[in-house]
Amino acid sequence: MTLDIEKIRKDFPILERETRPGVRVTYLDSTATSQKPVQVIEAMNDYYRRSNANIHRGVHTLAEEATSMYESAREKIAKFINASSSREVIYTRNTTESINLIAYSWGRANLKTGDLVILTEMEHHSNLVPWHMLQAERGIELEFIPVTEDGLLDLETYKTLLDRRPKLVSFTHMSNVLGTINPAAEIIRMGHEVGAVVLVDGAQSVPHLKVDMQTLDADFYAFSAHKMCGPTGIGALYGKTVLLESMPPFLGGGDMIKEVKLRSFRPNTLPHKFEAGTPAIAEAVGFGAAVDYLSTVGMERIAAHEHEVTEYALDRLEEIPGVKLFGPSADKKGGVAAFTLEGVHPHDVAQILDQDGIAVRAGHHCAQPLHEKFGIPATSRASFYLYNTKEEVDLLVSGIYKVKEMFG
Ligand SMILES: Cc1ncc(COP(=O)(O)O)c(C=O)c1O
Repeated sequence: MTLDIEKIRKDFPILERETRPGVRVTYLDSTATSQKPVQVIEAMNDYYRRSNANIHRGVHTLAEEATSMYESAREKIAKFINASSSREVIYTRNTTESINLIAYSWGRANLKTGDLVILTEMEHHSNLVPWHMLQAERGIELEFIPVTEDGLLDLETYKTLLDRRPKLVSFTHMSNVLGTINPAAEIIRMGHEVGAVVLVDGAQSVPHLKVDMQTLDADFYAFSAHKMCGPTGIGALYGKTVLLESMPPFLGGGDMIKEVKLRSFRPNTLPHKFEAGTPAIAEAVGFGAAVDYLSTVGMERIAAHEHEVTEYALDRLEEIPGVKLFGPSADKKGGVAAFTLEGVHPHDVAQILDQDGIAVRAGHHCAQPLHEKFGIPATSRASFYLYNTKEEVDLLVSGIYKVKEMFG
């Protein structure tokens, strides 16, 4: 079951990088964006070297090849999340755009003044601001499933909120700060029982867990390629066919139409209805290669490896006097360790660690309300992926001791 970590690390050329002479990078920021294996970099290079052309429009060989590569990546992504058809996978720019697509298209067609949308207190700004914008425009109501002291969702309160018959429930499958893996299937089932549509922010779950649209039964599911070994600039929105077909288009222009007259248009069929203009073709190819890479390594093995590293990290960090960890225990979370160090600002922690090549993030991680809930402006966050090792955790721990020394 274990990963051949040495072999895996060799796939990621950047891990050999020295950020200063003699200081090799220790990359602990995969929650922000993951590193890319050569398999992805080469797939994109090959596309540009051999097959570059615009898609869906040409009959020449290169155009056909580019189209087939773009569409076969979609097939791979659909299979990876076990969608029932690749028509249910819409390419977007990222998770943020996927959620905005729902707020714009489904939201404006289905939500009116007074309608309730349930979110949670642990959402990324991507799953808050689109709903704030819709609230200002439509007068919808927003309620939030509270986060408990130990970083879990309070499902008792969720049950009570459901009595108010929400139209939409939208929540993150895995928190980018607390690492909490939420019981998605249960939250979705409970939402469906009162007739709500359920959208899941899968930005952190798809890269790290095996997700299955058939078992989860989410109506919409959003994720980004760049957090799962793929390139930036492309993401996906999964949606059930019946819902996507009922929705108006998002952006208008080329490719998303069947027919255009001077004064009208007919939208294209799925999935093209939601993909206006020339898309990120090389990025789609890279997205497909990333999915191939993760599938070859095996999502279960990746999750097990991350669990081992995270458990070790939490144990070691907990031992450091003055370190306070946020979020639940390792058995309820993914590879994220957000912490504060008494008397030191998180930015100073990150900056000093960087001198030893250790890359962690500091700030509110686009989850300001969650930090407010815990009464802190910021945390430092180390996050782990398939290429991280316990030795890197040791470097982090030594680095934090060094920070403590410097701050007396
Ligand atoms: C939980 C969660 N949702 C949404 C996003 C937004 O992802 P993107 O910037 O790729 O749109 C992130 C990114 O960190 C995230 O962690």
